[in-house]
Amino acid sequence: MKILGISGSLRKASWNTALLHTAATLLQGHEFSIAEIGDLPLINQDLEQGGKFPAQVERFRSEVLAADAILFATPEYNASIPAPLKNAIDWASRPASTLAHKAAAICGVSPGALGTSRAQYPLRQTLGVLSVQLLGQPEVFIGGAGAKFADGKLTEAGTLEFFGKMLAIFTAFAERVKLG
Ligand SMILES: Cc1cc2nc3c(=O)[nH]c(=O)nc-3n(C[C@H](O)[C@H](O)[C@H](O)COP(=O)(O)O)c2cc1C
Repeated sequence: MKILGISGSLRKASWNTALLHTAATLLQGHEFSIAEIGDLPLINQDLEQGGKFPAQVERFRSEVLAADAILFATPEYNASIPAPLKNAIDWASRPASTLAHKAAAICGVSPGALGTSRAQYPLRQTLGVLSVQLLGQPEVFIGGAGAKFADGKLTEAGTLEFFGKMLAIFTAFAERVKLG
């Protein structure tokens, strides 16, 4: 499977981007890359000219289109989806949507206890409307990040094992979605 990771954080030391780097080590036998969304302009229909998008948007949309599946890792900003991630999804959704019928899963990490649940539910709502085929279970809410990560990777054994199992379930799900 060709899997694209999208982190909702632009922070260099992001826990969520670190979770995607951890996914890269766990997704053996699959092609995995992480999208750049920090250079996308703010969504603005005036930037769409004759069905064409700015170069960075074209690049991002091509990456989404080429992927069999998307793994979102999202922080929670003010109890909702972080603006950079919503912006990227809005660009990906412009006609013809690059997200429709694509398999996807959501995970998230926060330093606090809630593990980004208040971002993941509105994200589910948005992706559902876009006909993304979302993995329902297991949900991945990783709280207390400070004690679970080291050197830019998830290191806490129990969480690592859980995340590895979730990714195995996700890739099997994505294969079923791909087969139709
Ligand atoms: C604008 C903003 C709003 C935030 N709102 C929340 C919030 O509602 N809930 C929460 O648990 N953390 C919140 N945080 C803290 C983030 O959980 C924390 O910065 C986290 O490390 C972000 O994820 P990252 O490490 O992947 O960048 C907020 C941070 C920012 C910058």
